[in-house]
Amino acid sequence: MANIACDPNARPDFKTTMELGAVLPQSAEVKDGELYIGGVNTIDLAREYGTALYVMDEQQIRDQLRNYLKWTRYHWKDVDVVYAGKAFICKAMCKLVAEEGCHLDVSSGGELAIALAADFPAERVVAHGNNKTMQELTEAITAGVGRIVVDSFDELSRIDSIARDLGKVQPILIRITPGVVADTHAYITTGSEDSKFGFGLRDGLAFKAVETALDLPGIELKGLHMHIGSQIFVLNSYAKAIEVIVHFMDEIREKTGFVISELDTGGGLGIAYGVPDEPSTIKDYGKVIVDDIKEHCEAHSLPVPRILVEPGRSIVANAGVTLYTVGTVKHIPNVRTYVAVDGGMTDNIRTALYDAHYEPVIANKSDKPRDTVVTIAGKHCESGDVIVVDTPLQSAEPGDILCVFATGAYCQSMASNYNKQVRPGVVFVNNGEARLVVRRETYEDLMRCDV
Ligand code: LLP
Repeated sequence: MANIACDPNARPDFKTTMELGAVLPQSAEVKDGELYIGGVNTIDLAREYGTALYVMDEQQIRDQLRNYLKWTRYHWKDVDVVYAGKAFICKAMCKLVAEEGCHLDVSSGGELAIALAADFPAERVVAHGNNKTMQELTEAITAGVGRIVVDSFDELSRIDSIARDLGKVQPILIRITPGVVADTHAYITTGSEDSKFGFGLRDGLAFKAVETALDLPGIELKGLHMHIGSQIFVLNSYAKAIEVIVHFMDEIREKTGFVISELDTGGGLGIAYGVPDEPSTIKDYGKVIVDDIKEHCEAHSLPVPRILVEPGRSIVANAGVTLYTVGTVKHIPNVRTYVAVDGGMTDNIRTALYDAHYEPVIANKSDKPRDTVVTIAGKHCESGDVIVVDTPLQSAEPGDILCVFATGAYCQSMASNYNKQVRPGVVFVNNGEARLVVRRETYEDLMRCDV
């Protein structure tokens, strides 16, 4: 990207940190002008662990998982919450998910390895991926994962043969593309018919997959899966997809006599990245998902299945922030001011990739109004290496600690070593205590695979 478009409407908003609302972690506080999260001073964290640094409010992660359990089970007893590890995973996170009685979605052998290393119960793992390798399938079946979500005919026969070789019968879900286009960024929609994920309904492939699965002795078909996209604000997209998929459950029973006993509706609930964002609540989400499934099942005289929901972003995004140190402040007259920090697209690729928007503050000036407009740039060799474009911010100086909110999902998990940047550490904060759960990389880590 040569030039970054200027937003002619960008103005200072004169908001102080605590006026940023839903983007803040629930435990955010300002004391003596400094930002605290989980009762811990972020300036102290930056000093102790170095920057860039991801900081996550542990209690908020637990509360989000509990909210999902509460507001789905409120409507139907047989619901499980499957946290989507791709949003953020490490051993401490797996332990926390296990402690909260939730399940875990892994999307690769690597994520499964982390889960197993954290002693996450394999029977509560749901294994995903549109092209799982033979090795990944073998590892998953050997470990005894609770469900494999099957994405292709090739995979059906591979699972059958691996399971039979191991003397096992592998429980599976079949991933359906319900043909519903969710209202979100095109790169993260997945439920439309032209998708590399799942089996389409209109072309009969989904039905054929069900028939095939029912015939394979190494496979036990449990149910269906759908995932229509991510960062979804409009719950109606779910309602439409549920109507389609329950109709398909009816078709399966009619044509084969087999009754689907599980339905996994995927993840996707949106979160607040910017001050004006008003995502749906977990409470409303739970009602739409569960009530709609119940309603359509009753209409078709089908038993209500066990329901799985697979949230990722909405569990961790607002619990997390990234701390940086401001290195340079460059005023380009009549153009813009660049505030450059000691991280960038290596720890947060989402702005470059999706034009994502974030809210930043200067953590050591948290009680001051955001009275300037700047672009926050990273330190990498690309003009497109920006974290927030034309954003209000307190007046920045080198040495300030910059905090970017709502970075708990898909930032650490998508981080890279471009420019041989070491990836930041992750600190969990709670009740005034900080614990390092992922250490910052070292230069040795950058060379550990060189032979
Ligand atoms: N289940 C499946 C099968 C998924 O593919 C995903 C996300 C989830 C659950 C969790 O969705 P969530 O609740 O987090 O929206 N890198 C992108 C997001 C990609 C989402 C991929 N799948 C981003 O940074 O926005």
